[in-house]
Amino acid sequence: MKIDVCRKLPEHIETLVYLQFEDEAIQVPEVLGEDLISAIENYCTLEEYTFNKGSIKSFTRMIRKKKQLIILCGAGKKAELDSYSLRNLLADCWREATRNKARQLYLMFGFVTKMPEPVLGHLLSESALLSAYKFNKYLSSDKTHELECIHLIYFAKTNRHLNRGILEGRIFAEATNLARDLVNEPANVINPESLADYARKAALQYGFSLEVHSIDKIKRLKMEALLAVGRGSKSEPKLIIMRYNGNPDKKNKLTALVGKGLTFDSGGYSLKPSNSMLNMKSDMGGAAAVIGAFSAIATLKLKVNVVGIIAAAENMIGSSAYRPGDVITSMSGKTIEVVNTDAEGRLTLIDAIHFALEKEKADKILDIATLTGAAVAALGKDYSAVLSNDDAWYAKLEAASTFCGEKIWRMPLHDPYKELIKSEIADLKNAGGPLAGCITAALFIQEFVQNKPWIHIDIAGGAMRDKVSGINSFGATGVGVRLLIALLKNME
Ligand code: BES
Ligand code: MG
Ligand code: ZN
Repeated sequence: MKIDVCRKLPEHIETLVYLQFEDEAIQVPEVLGEDLISAIENYCTLEEYTFNKGSIKSFTRMIRKKKQLIILCGAGKKAELDSYSLRNLLADCWREATRNKARQLYLMFGFVTKMPEPVLGHLLSESALLSAYKFNKYLSSDKTHELECIHLIYFAKTNRHLNRGILEGRIFAEATNLARDLVNEPANVINPESLADYARKAALQYGFSLEVHSIDKIKRLKMEALLAVGRGSKSEPKLIIMRYNGNPDKKNKLTALVGKGLTFDSGGYSLKPSNSMLNMKSDMGGAAAVIGAFSAIATLKLKVNVVGIIAAAENMIGSSAYRPGDVITSMSGKTIEVVNTDAEGRLTLIDAIHFALEKEKADKILDIATLTGAAVAALGKDYSAVLSNDDAWYAKLEAASTFCGEKIWRMPLHDPYKELIKSEIADLKNAGGPLAGCITAALFIQEFVQNKPWIHIDIAGGAMRDKVSGINSFGATGVGVRLLIALLKNME
């Protein structure tokens, strides 16, 4: 899809998207021509349309024997419009245009935004490419219409800042769509081995390095927690390591991004009910976010040093699967009583984190995982839960969240709840019972971060959607990708 800025109106506008605040007098810019202005004004009067927030109306008319589609979009109250709502409003406009089979589209703001031009450009391309995404690989025929190009009508001395934003938004969106593709692939296609192959493809395409360890090496590393989780599956675990050194001078600062990579989570012998199992191909959403983020970080050539670790496995049942009651010795040496084989994600994560600290010498740890149903119950689908032992680093994540529009909410690392994961027979148990499940999962992981700066992001809620809305399509959302890129941008 082509996305650009134009300062001159064409002879004929096939489709116009027009945004306007509800608390500003309708002042259609003169450049649109009197004819078009009165068409918009007449429509608003006749339909009593006031540009209230999120309401989109469209109508067609004939001019000089050519059809013209006009889409009006309410931007709500001037003081209330932030980049989060603008991103979703624009996405809704693109969807409306697509529904109406538009191809060439012109966008005009009926107001002067205070948003910096790079941000505006970013929102424009990102919303367009994210909302146009569809996982149609397995449809024999997909007749979905696609927009060809979007031209922003904008008058500035130079288009440089807008164009820079448009390019950046494109990179953010393409990385997100890459993660969406990985999560949408069913578990009969993506297993630990093929996930590593997809990561290798991304590494070659975007320019970061990749190493994959197979089971023998994982055994030699004594990653017994990862091995236990993967033991019930014919597809053996893989340890995927991605490296990007954008700032070789600052060798002492290495950030590890650890993504949960369960290519399928049946629950194991603590088997999930069928309804809860249905979407569990998405249990590698954290891994996909890390792969997506790496592709963008390398494309943007960010001046950061990052290592990505994915301990990929499939949680299945069978005669060799791990059992409730088993005691395992993790790579760190800490022993764990498995009270629930469905609390498998944290087991793979702690071995990956220990590997990142001991073998890769990471200075900071960020893990991202579809980890708990409790996070979904607490925050729903729009917010990721975050827990962190480092306020300064968390502040950067918060700024990243505001910039990229991925919502986060901080939960407390409440020390007394450590009681809930104490075991009588081992150092820890892997599940803390029905209360505060999102927090106890994080407290469990905290035991393995060696007091290093650490951020834990639980994306269980937002990884999948069963409805199209705003920038999100049906299925995988690619949640986490934009947040990670924006965070690393703040760490340059
Ligand atoms: N992968 C699930 C968490 C999940 C739930 C992701 C819903 C996406 C949507 C995780 O492995 C899991 O099963 N967690 C258990 C932990 C419990 C047994 C302590 C849960 O949340 O029920
Ligand atoms: Mg599970
Ligand atoms: Zn899981």
